[in-house]
Amino acid sequence: LIAHFQPKVLAGRRVLITAGPTSEPIDPVRVLTNVSSGKMGYAIARAAREAGAEVTLVSGPTALAAPRGVRRVDVMTARDMLDAVMAGVPDADIFVAVAAVADWRVKEVSARKLKKTDGAPPALEFVQNPDILGTVAALPRPPYCVGFAAETEDLACHATEKRARKRVPLLVGNLAQEVLGRDDTTLVLYDDAGEHPLARLSKLAAARQLVAEIGRRAGS
Ligand code: CTP
Ligand code: CA
Repeated sequence: LIAHFQPKVLAGRRVLITAGPTSEPIDPVRVLTNVSSGKMGYAIARAAREAGAEVTLVSGPTALAAPRGVRRVDVMTARDMLDAVMAGVPDADIFVAVAAVADWRVKEVSARKLKKTDGAPPALEFVQNPDILGTVAALPRPPYCVGFAAETEDLACHATEKRARKRVPLLVGNLAQEVLGRDDTTLVLYDDAGEHPLARLSKLAAARQLVAEIGRRAGS
């Protein structure tokens, strides 16, 4: 029996994951957000848990239930997400950033509902949100960091550039139009050795393959 014992690929590892969109207020009744169901991030959380990890899922607003055995921390804005991630990072061996973080927020959130005034749209001023993955990857002793990139074109080019810019060992690319809102996905892994496409799979099956790859790469 002992001879057949196979430890789970992430047994005892602590994995921190971001998922879903962020939601940035404009006024009390309006937000700026991204297209993201949260399905891929939640599937990775489930797969990591199945693989024996202790999983914390920092999630923007989604319609999904937390996978069994996963600790979920709910956030709204990118800045909330950064705070929750930075609180979790000291206890994480692996960080997987799947969230579709809003790149901008409105500079001055109106305390009152903006009203239509004779056809003139409001002039909103935007400021850039913090880069959560970039911030974590730049820490002195970062966890093993995995990024995602959803692109509409030139996937290899953007993914390779993004991986270098964010200084992460592994970046997972996909084409937005092939994956958003769907139950299946086509992932391409980018690392030091180049590009590794996965087959078209359900998001859960793809998440299990990705978790196996992360387990192999993240060391112990
Ligand atoms: N990300 C993040 N914080 C942000 C923006 C992105 O943590 N403020 C993470 C995402 O979760 C993803 C990776 O960085 O893992 C790439 O996100 P993406 O939006 O593709 O990259 P950007 O650097 O924002 O570039 P752009 O949107 O201009 O393509
Ligand atoms: Ca972005």
